[in-house]
Amino acid sequence: MKFFIDTANIAQIKEANDLGILDGVTTNPSLMAKEGIKGTDAIMKHYVDICNIVSGDVSAEVISTDFDGIIREGENLAALHENIVVKVPMIKDGVKAIKYFSSKGIRTNCTLIFSPGQAILAAKAGATYISPFVGRLDDISYDGMSLIAEIAQIFAVQGYQTQILAASIRNPIHIIKSAQYGAHVITSPLDSILALLKHPLTDIGLEKFLADHKKSNG
Ligand code: G3P
Repeated sequence: MKFFIDTANIAQIKEANDLGILDGVTTNPSLMAKEGIKGTDAIMKHYVDICNIVSGDVSAEVISTDFDGIIREGENLAALHENIVVKVPMIKDGVKAIKYFSSKGIRTNCTLIFSPGQAILAAKAGATYISPFVGRLDDISYDGMSLIAEIAQIFAVQGYQTQILAASIRNPIHIIKSAQYGAHVITSPLDSILALLKHPLTDIGLEKFLADHKKSNG
């Protein structure tokens, strides 16, 4: 399973990349706004900066909702760097655009997936990735992880090549369950990735090893 980081924060991207486990980055308009990145030129430059840090796919989201606008924006984004994946919302014109991009060899990430039906449509259109939003489903009392399991089963039965990118990850259990249920990728905030490191017995065990070494070596 690949690890993407879900942020536009350069310091966090560098920290995850330095760990040696980072396979890519996803962003969205909310994450760009959170970093204070405004205006087309600044947004485009920020995507290039991210691509220059990480050697993996970087999802850049369109803000148009009509077919022509999505195509225009997506082509501009894809031209920025070979690692850019155009992130397109799960709407009717988005599905049409994904089909178009797929025929042109432009890779896509279909975002805002909340049901197996939406996942099937995006896969049929030729999306490279689909992003089911696990945490936002949990927020409204649906089991987000069960959506990952359902989609993984459908894609395996159908032999779809589209990769399941579990998004809206909120904690390390979401990452572990995504691996268990067959997601190809997770995209996560840095804190949930770092939380995978933690176990109290590791800390206690290391403390004892170091104390014993000190006792016998002075
Ligand atoms: O990038 C899309 C998704 O990961 C957003 O997550 O936490 O805003 O639901 P969140």
